[in-house]
Amino acid sequence: MTYDLIIKGATVVTASDTFDADIAVSKGKIAAVGKFSEGNGAAKASKTIEAKGLVAIPGGIDVHTHFDMPFMGATTADDFATGSAGAVFGGTTSVVDFAIQKKGESLRQALDTWHGKAQGKSLVDYAFHMIVVDLPDNRVKEMDAMVDEGVSSFKLFMAYPGIFMSDDATIFRALSRTKENGGMICMHAENGGVIDLLVKKALAEGKIEPKYHALTRPMSAEAEATRRAIALAEMAGVPIYIVHLSAGDAMEEVRRARERGVSAFAETCPQYLYLSYEDYERPGFEGAKFVMSPPLRPRGNEERLWRGLARDWLQVVSTDHCSFCMKATGAKPGKELGKADFSKIPNGAPGVETRMLLLWDAVQKGRLSANRFVEVASTAPARLFGLYPRKGTLSPGADADIVLIDPKKKHTISAKTHHTAVDYNPYEGKTVAGSIAHVFIRGTHMVQGGKFIGRKGHGQFLKRPPRNFS
Ligand code: URP
Ligand code: ZN
Ligand code: ZN
Repeated sequence: MTYDLIIKGATVVTASDTFDADIAVSKGKIAAVGKFSEGNGAAKASKTIEAKGLVAIPGGIDVHTHFDMPFMGATTADDFATGSAGAVFGGTTSVVDFAIQKKGESLRQALDTWHGKAQGKSLVDYAFHMIVVDLPDNRVKEMDAMVDEGVSSFKLFMAYPGIFMSDDATIFRALSRTKENGGMICMHAENGGVIDLLVKKALAEGKIEPKYHALTRPMSAEAEATRRAIALAEMAGVPIYIVHLSAGDAMEEVRRARERGVSAFAETCPQYLYLSYEDYERPGFEGAKFVMSPPLRPRGNEERLWRGLARDWLQVVSTDHCSFCMKATGAKPGKELGKADFSKIPNGAPGVETRMLLLWDAVQKGRLSANRFVEVASTAPARLFGLYPRKGTLSPGADADIVLIDPKKKHTISAKTHHTAVDYNPYEGKTVAGSIAHVFIRGTHMVQGGKFIGRKGHGQFLKRPPRNFS
């Protein structure tokens, strides 16, 4: 038997095991994992990668990106071409991006728009969640059609009144429908009504700097909404997934719910693990780089999240990659929109390119086990969002999405060398212990030693089945 590819002698790390092995790939799928490349009767392959000293993991899965997203008078710097370039160079081989329903628009129209944005552009495989902003009774059945189209998760907002926010009745209606159609609700849990009042009060007092973004979005506004979202899901009898959880107090709500047997899940993001409120106090307008919702929290909060991540109080690390340039580029406005009013700074920050190495660095520092790293960055997101076992594992039959990390080589993060289109990096100058040596997507060699050697537009749409857990 001649394979298309053999990766020889890597240290294979999965969510459950660590062992030395060869990985054989045939027709874009993992064909075998074991010891078969040495001695008499050694397997043959069209291409061999010597991987001794390298760590092989299933490709990263980032279930929270916003590519080509119009928001707050701006559009993200990254579209599917540049966003997915960041993903693949950073060891992420699949993303789940958010299609957005406009008010008055059908979910199908929104889905068509997002297919148009991604198709032929994405380097990495991609799927969609659907952001629902307009869900009167007569639209609810459109959710079923989305599930049939492979869009089996929906994001609702408890924040951003007048833009995205849904009231409790609408949230309950959407949750209840997922009991029928097997979808899952992903919730942006912040109390938007209270935050809106706090923002108005701050502005009236002349408080306009970026730090007031954080000071008007307290932890308790996130914890309260998280508790309410979980309660609504319990009343509807369905699971719920809390997106971009930032506050330790909100995590406690998820933990308590899980301890009493509720199917509550949550993701956090590297920014909440590595950055803090103090970043808003950088000089001038620099704090705007970190304006995102929920905001960065005071130092010390990240320790609670690390602990929760190790203990499965948090299940996933995604990025919420939502990149706005600091300065307008051509006709494209950026964060400067909020120079005189923090509430006008487009919310969001980049992260898709740095997630995997930041987490690997945490493995080197003993914060997470290597297996837990694979779990939160690849296997758990695949399981929760219907991509497993096609993705999120290195077992035979899975897509050959393989990342080889060189644990001996350091990598310094910088906007000068990153591959996304945004003009800053929140982790500028940070050196992490490890670098991405090779990336394969469905067996195609995409990245080698920091060079792109893959195929443009290689990414395929991933149709996801309805949830198989309750
Ligand atoms: O600030 C953020 N998170 N921007 C992206 C939109 C969202 O809420 O995920
Ligand atoms: Zn959100
Ligand atoms: Zn987001």
